[in-house]
Formats: sequence, C-alpha cells, structure tokens
Amino acid sequence: ATLLSSPLLASGALAVLNDDIPEHLISLKSLVSATPPSQTPAPHLVILGTGWGSMSLLSRLAVAPTSCRVTVISPRPHFFYTPLLAGTSTGTVRTASISEPIRRHLAPFLPPAQGQPRFVQANSTDVDFATQEVSAIGPDGTPIQVSYDHLVVAVGADVNTFNIPGIHEHAVFMKELEDGMKLQRKLHDQLEKASAMLAAGASKEEVAKLLHFVVVGGGPTGVELTAELGDFLRDDVEKAFPAVSGLSKVTLVEAGPKILATFDPHISEYAKGRLEAHGASVQTGTMVRRATESSLLVAKKGEPDASIDYGVLVWAGGVKARGFTEKMARKIGGVQTPANRPIRGLAVGPDFAVTGVSNVYAIGDCALAKGCSPTAQAAFQQGKWLGRALRDHGFSPAAAHKNGDPFVFANQGSLAYIGASEGVAELKNVLWDNHPEWGGGENGGGDAVVEGKGAFAIWRSLYFSKLLSGRNKWMVGMDWLNVWAGGGREVSTP
Ligand code: FAD
Ligand code: NAI
Repeated sequence: ATLLSSPLLASGALAVLNDDIPEHLISLKSLVSATPPSQTPAPHLVILGTGWGSMSLLSRLAVAPTSCRVTVISPRPHFFYTPLLAGTSTGTVRTASISEPIRRHLAPFLPPAQGQPRFVQANSTDVDFATQEVSAIGPDGTPIQVSYDHLVVAVGADVNTFNIPGIHEHAVFMKELEDGMKLQRKLHDQLEKASAMLAAGASKEEVAKLLHFVVVGGGPTGVELTAELGDFLRDDVEKAFPAVSGLSKVTLVEAGPKILATFDPHISEYAKGRLEAHGASVQTGTMVRRATESSLLVAKKGEPDASIDYGVLVWAGGVKARGFTEKMARKIGGVQTPANRPIRGLAVGPDFAVTGVSNVYAIGDCALAKGCSPTAQAAFQQGKWLGRALRDHGFSPAAAHKNGDPFVFANQGSLAYIGASEGVAELKNVLWDNHPEWGGGENGGGDAVVEGKGAFAIWRSLYFSKLLSGRNKWMVGMDWLNVWAGGGREVSTP
C-alpha cells in the first residue's frame, strides 16, 4: 500500500479526547453560525467527509481548537483505515479494529453554536455558494441546512463500474467498511452452501463453480484482496472445510497487460508470479464486458469473447468522482467542466481553494490537485497542509502559499501485500539521501524496490505505525497475533 506520510499521526498529536460529547441528537432544520453578540465569532468551518483528508485536517486544527467553530457532515460517523480493508473481508483484522469514531476527534473544537452538534450524520447534496450554505439529507430523510464561513469538501471518490451491465447488481465492492462485512458474509455463506451441496451428492464441477472467487481489477485494491483471499483459503478454509477446500480457487482478472500497472515494472511481474505461486490464477489482457448472476463475459485481444463462471464476484475496477462532486463542478462551471472530458474532481489552486468560488476548499480524492494521485498518502498530506494553513494564516491558505510555505507533495512510494506474508514496496527518496554513490538522485533522494518477506515486514510495520489511535493499534496487533499464533480467521459470521 502507498506510504502515508504522517509524522503527526505517529507522534500521536492527533487529539483523541473523551468520547462523551454533550450534544443533542440531530433535530436540526438549520445550523446557523449564531454567536453571542458580544463576542467576535470564531470562523465557522464546515467539513464534508470523515475520511483521510478530513481526519488529517482536523488533526492540524486540533492544535488550536478554539481558532474555529467546527461542523463535520458525513454519512459515516467514523473514519476507517482503508489500507487494511481487504483484510476485514477474510477476518485477518476485524472491522472494529480499523475504525475510529469521528466524535472522539471533534471534542476539543468549539461547536457551531451553543448546544449544536459538531457532527451531523448526513449526505451533503448541494452547496449555495452565494449564501454559503450546505444542504444535506439525514439518514431518515430529514433535510438539513448548515451555514459556513469556510467549507472544506473532502467527500472522496465513488466506485467506477464504467456502466458495465450487471456489475452493480451482482458484484461486491471493496470501498467501504460495509463492503468488507458483506464480502465476509458471502464467503462464509458460499462455503456452507458448497459443503451442503457436496454432501448431497452434487458434482465437483458444480461445487467448484460456487467456490470460484473472481476479483476484477488488477490495481492495488484487487491485488491485495486476491492475496487476502488466497491466505484465507490456504490457512483457514483447508482446516474448517476440508471436503471442499480443494475445489476453491481465486482468479484475478485485469483488462490491461499487467497488474499493479502504476508500480515499477519489475514489481508488476514479481507480484503476478507470486500470486500464481500462491495458487491464484491471474488473467491479464482480459476485459470484463458484462456480468450475470453467475458468470462474466470477457473479451481478450484477438480471441473470441469467453465466459468465466463465478461463485462470488468482487469489483475493484477503480474510482470516479462522486455525484455530489460532479454536481458542484457543473454548478461552478468554467474550468470545472472541461469540454469532452468526464469530471474527475474539483479543480483547485495550489492552496486547495476551489477555482471559481470563494471560501471553499477541496482535498483528497475529490480534488484535482497537481501531482497527486487518489491515495490516502496524498489526501493526508493535503489535509495536513490545509489545516495548518487555515490555522496559522487567519483562515487564508493563499497567504500561507504566498508566504513561502507552498504545498509540496512528498511521494514516499507505494506498498502492496501479495499474500503468504510477502509484499512489494517501491520506496521513494529514501535510504540513499545524499549518497549518489548508492544510486541517489541529484537532489539526494533515490528509489528502492523491495520484494518478498522484507517488503511484507515494511508493509506491516509501517501501516501499524500509521494507525490513528492506540485503541486501533492494540486491536489490530491482537488480530494479527491471533492469526499468526494459529488462532485462525473467522469461518462463520456470528
Ligand atoms: P475518503 O477517505 O474516501 O473519505 C470520504 C468521506 O466522505 C467519507 O467519510 C464518506 O463517507 C464521506 N462522504 C461521501 N459522500 C459524502 C457526501 N455527499 N457528503 C458528505 N460526506 C460524504 N491509499 C494509500 O495511500 N495507501 C493504501 O494502502 C491504500 N489502500 C486502500 C485500500 C482500499 C481497499 C481502498 C478502497 C483505498 C485505498 N487507498 C489507499 C486509497 C485511499 O483510501 C483514498 O485515496 C483515501 O481514502 C482518500 O481520502 P479522502 O479523504 O479523499 O476520501
Ligand atoms: P485502480 O484504478 O488502481 O485499478 C483498477 C484496475 O481495474 C485497473 O488496472 C483497470 O485496468 C482494471 N479494470 C477496469 N475496468 C476493467 C474491466 N472492465 N475489466 C477488467 N479490468 C478492469 O483502482 P484501485 O486498485 O481501486 O485503486 C484506487 C486508488 O486507490 C489508486 O490510486 C490506488 O493507488 C489507491 N490504492 C492504493 C493501495 C496501495 O497503495 N496499496 C491499495 C488500494 C488502493
């Protein structure tokens, strides 16, 4: 997984305070930026989203929590640690171990107004840039309006199915915590069903179809999930379902000529070889065109279309802009809506100000920040910079930029888990600093490729160190220890 730059997280400076926030539940029609008349109001900052960008922004603002009044709006009352999501579907880690309630991180901030909540569980649906008001819809359909002085949009990205017929209906995604839970339940159900069928006299071919787990998309999400599924089948299914375990198989389908295409070419080759050595089938150059309830129609260059039967289908084909992001871009117009091109995110300046409107910023996967890819690493660094710029420059990030503190993305490389306690790592600007004789670049930094057990050790220790809270660290540590010590992963859903 990509390296996350977070000395802040590692140092524990992220404010984790008490859970016990005295807030009324949301009966709000309107959250207005009201303040006692005698006081100069601290600016009201509204943040959309509880992902990587928002958490990192909050961590920087938490250093001076009275500098602003805060409202966070998100359908999700928790942050979760995406790099370990694939492992929740097989039980390598538990869902609770990688999630962190947002309310713990909001406690130090001033509320938007006396008695009003700092967190609003809702989906933002619109922004009136003239009146500076966000419209949102609560889980029960309650319309909510929140005024802002400054708005940070950090709503992330959506799953991209490219409108391929059948994918929405038949595939599980790997994007949200619920996806991990859904896949885990499907795996368990399928194993029970297959066992029952075999016992009732079904043919091995029929049972093997049920236990064919197909992952579409050879990017890091698909590769890491394939790796986790392989571990699960080898370590756990073999013991718990001995009669059917030999009939199970994982296939990774990728349209392009190689998996992990954004990594060093050697890594792509190596990862494919190791996934296959661990028992997976990797089919590159294979484009999925349609899905039915139990099979995929695929096209291979120069060959007639073929079908692949599956028992469980996971779609990891990439990401696109959310509907909300697209709507905002269209509303603003101009550079936000390039001709003949899909909207991939909100165009922002070097200070993350959304081009074409005032007092609105965008970070993370929903922003088109120069030189950044849609990764947690980038979202985290952007949130950190913007939080500091807002805090230290009178809520004027442009001033931070002009005063010689521009945002510079420090790409620290990429890591991915490939199964059987092996990984791949492409580390940027490390180790060789100021040692050109070791291959360092002119500016001191150089790249390093690490593969196998060493990369796995880096992957685990790095991601462990970046977990947001002591609670997450303890729980993930225990989960890993349990699997390592032979306690095994869950093979049934309670
Ligand atoms: P997110 O973290 O996606 O957060 C978006 C937030 O906005 C969520 O809280 C969401 O509920 C909320 N939201 C959505 N719609 C609305 C709305 N209408 N109104 C208000 N709130 C809304 N990157 C790495 O660098 N390294 C990795 O190892 C890595 N592993 C990954 C593994 C998986 C399985 C996945 C799916 C992604 C991984 N990524 C990784 C990518 C990384 O998770 C994303 O780039 C990162 O989450 C982007 O952060 P963000 O804050 O922009 O959005
Ligand atoms: P991705 O866009 O990186 O990969 C999607 C893959 O699906 C592509 O290789 C594409 O060719 C393939 N695909 C699309 N349509 C297809 C079809 N019809 N048939 C077959 N294959 C098809 O998406 P992913 O992996 O979800 O990653 C999204 C972002 O999150 C990336 O920026 C990635 O770097 C980041 N991420 C990083 C991780 C890490 O660093 N370990 C882990 C997971 C995600």
